[in-house]
Amino acid sequence: MKIIKTISEITQFLQQVRQQSIGFVPTMGALHAGHLSLIQMSKTKTDITICSIFINPIQFNKKEDLDNYPRTLDADIQKLEKENCDVLFLPNVSEMYPTNKLNTYNFGAIATVMEGAFRPGHFDGVANVIQRFFEIIKPTYAFFGEKDFQQLAVVKELTKQLNLSVKIVGCPIYREPGGLAMSSRNERLSPIERTQASIIYRTLQKIKNEYSTYTTQQAKENFNSAMRQAGFVPEYIEFADVNTLQPIENWNETSNCFAFVAVNVGNVRLIDNLSIF
Ligand code: PAJ
Repeated sequence: MKIIKTISEITQFLQQVRQQSIGFVPTMGALHAGHLSLIQMSKTKTDITICSIFINPIQFNKKEDLDNYPRTLDADIQKLEKENCDVLFLPNVSEMYPTNKLNTYNFGAIATVMEGAFRPGHFDGVANVIQRFFEIIKPTYAFFGEKDFQQLAVVKELTKQLNLSVKIVGCPIYREPGGLAMSSRNERLSPIERTQASIIYRTLQKIKNEYSTYTTQQAKENFNSAMRQAGFVPEYIEFADVNTLQPIENWNETSNCFAFVAVNVGNVRLIDNLSIF
């Protein structure tokens, strides 16, 4: 695997392989099987797979979250080698942001609810870094996890607004054996918390099985009380239409409903989502 740290070097490399299809998997490192499933998807769909590891400072709305973000570069490199990833792009902050000038966006209602409401500025930070990566790499395909469902929707909208030819591929959530959605942040849970945190997925599944016997409000209360009983602090649970991401109050407001949740386990913030119907 080639490890490339500068834009000039990756531009040079890309010139040599431009006739082939390029798959791009952006990450912030601390790689787990969820990330690697995106690499595998790219390997099956494209000729050249480029993974980036860049902890994007401007998408963190809390300094301690940025400071505490796990950094495991040596292990990450080994995992990518094992997957036969072709290129690891490892830019630094001044490569990615040579000036202080950032773009502002209007993604409409998909970006103002849930993560958009609870993490102000987060999606603008994500959009800036993804736009920059897309301009540098000009990938044929880019792969994003449905774990960050709203991020996937924002990236699709960004691509549409900028009229880019890159095809955005959404990939299913990869889970730990107990059901907890894999996340780099799981590294920061204690072993006990990590086992207990599977209650998030189990409760969502219970809601999926029983939703028709509850109102949306009752289902939310059930979720919140299950989280509190486990000692967790629920931040939000919303039921929303899969396309507009707009929260619903009655089940009959959509024909394709997902549940979206954010839960604090100690000082670790976890998100998850599940198709309800
Ligand atoms: P990061 O959290 O490292 O995630 C990188 C990619 O892996 C994202 O597309 C994310 O949705 C996907 N992913 C994470 N956990 C997953 C899981 N359990 N199953 C499937 N896919 C999963 O998301 C980011 O980084 C950043 O916001 C980024 C897009 C790199 C921009 O900085």
